[in-house]
Amino acid sequence: MEWQTPMTRLLKIRYPVMQGALAVVSDVNLAAAVSEAGGLGMLTAWTQRRPEKLSQAIRELRDRTDRPFAVNLSPTMDQGLLKMLDVIIDEKVPVVETAGDRALAYGKRIKAAGLTWIHKVHTVKHAMTAQKDGADAVCIMGLEGAGLKSPMILTTLVSIAMAAEKITIPVIAAGGIGDARTFLGALALGADGVQLGSAFCLVKESKLPDSRKQVLIKADPYDPKWRGPILASPTAADLQQVQEAEGTKEIMGAAHRAESFGFPQEAGTGTISLAIGFVNRVVTAKELIGEIMAGAGDILTNKGIGGFKLVPGTDSGS
Ligand SMILES: Cc1cc2nc3c(=O)[nH]c(=O)nc-3n(C[C@H](O)[C@H](O)[C@H](O)COP(=O)(O)O)c2cc1C
Repeated sequence: MEWQTPMTRLLKIRYPVMQGALAVVSDVNLAAAVSEAGGLGMLTAWTQRRPEKLSQAIRELRDRTDRPFAVNLSPTMDQGLLKMLDVIIDEKVPVVETAGDRALAYGKRIKAAGLTWIHKVHTVKHAMTAQKDGADAVCIMGLEGAGLKSPMILTTLVSIAMAAEKITIPVIAAGGIGDARTFLGALALGADGVQLGSAFCLVKESKLPDSRKQVLIKADPYDPKWRGPILASPTAADLQQVQEAEGTKEIMGAAHRAESFGFPQEAGTGTISLAIGFVNRVVTAKELIGEIMAGAGDILTNKGIGGFKLVPGTDSGS
């Protein structure tokens, strides 16, 4: 089954799956594995720390794959990262993902350099602003996901359904996705593809030590030590911080819940998502993407959804 969508056509990739930025886990090896498997691999500028290191990583990645890849720039985490933008532009990185704060200024530079710009947000409102700012695609992450989160965040289910009605550029769903059912669910909600963060932390090519992967694979998502930090409610102070940030026009999504962190040390990642509920073994990036695509095809044509099945040969997935 072919899985061409507006996302795959924009990013020139085979499958509508991209890797998320993974601050302490991202590296050339993982990004190369994801891109070679037909998804979009991603380097994280924050992880490289210095412009020369990022430049070196981009070159190493190009030696490992001739397929498209992305670099994430999360200015929210460190304004110094803006220096990395020069490197990204000089190296003509095919796809740039900005995240968190409004990225209009960097987006303009990314677009002027002829690169593809994805902006990652946590609310539909911010996705609409990114669309207005000229982003080529938006990635919207819901509460189930990992990493920094806006106190205003809703679930992936609701955010993507709302976005489908309001956003005309490709929408990439993130947050709690990582198997065939969650992938298909995201497409059914109106997404053009998905971003996986936690699931790619747990693949063979991820540099997370195997002992840590085992902890996360066995983690019980109902255990308060995992579900607590993932689903934490914003405090009054968090909400006030949002109101203040929203008041300053250029900044949005700037306030993030401190509770997003506080994960058990044994995770080794600093953050993880509810995808731990169903990612239960370590496979290669190629196997993971292949299993998601094959599993989704099997659901559509054999298992069916609510008793409905595609009749082979008449599907419009290609
Ligand atoms: C260990 C880890 C580190 C992350 N670091 C970043 C980061 O530096 N910048 C960013 O924009 N998102 C970061 N994220 C979020 C991911 O890029 C992705 O959007 C998110 O993990 C999607 O949700 P999922 O984990 O349920 O797939 C991180 C996620 C994880 C698990």
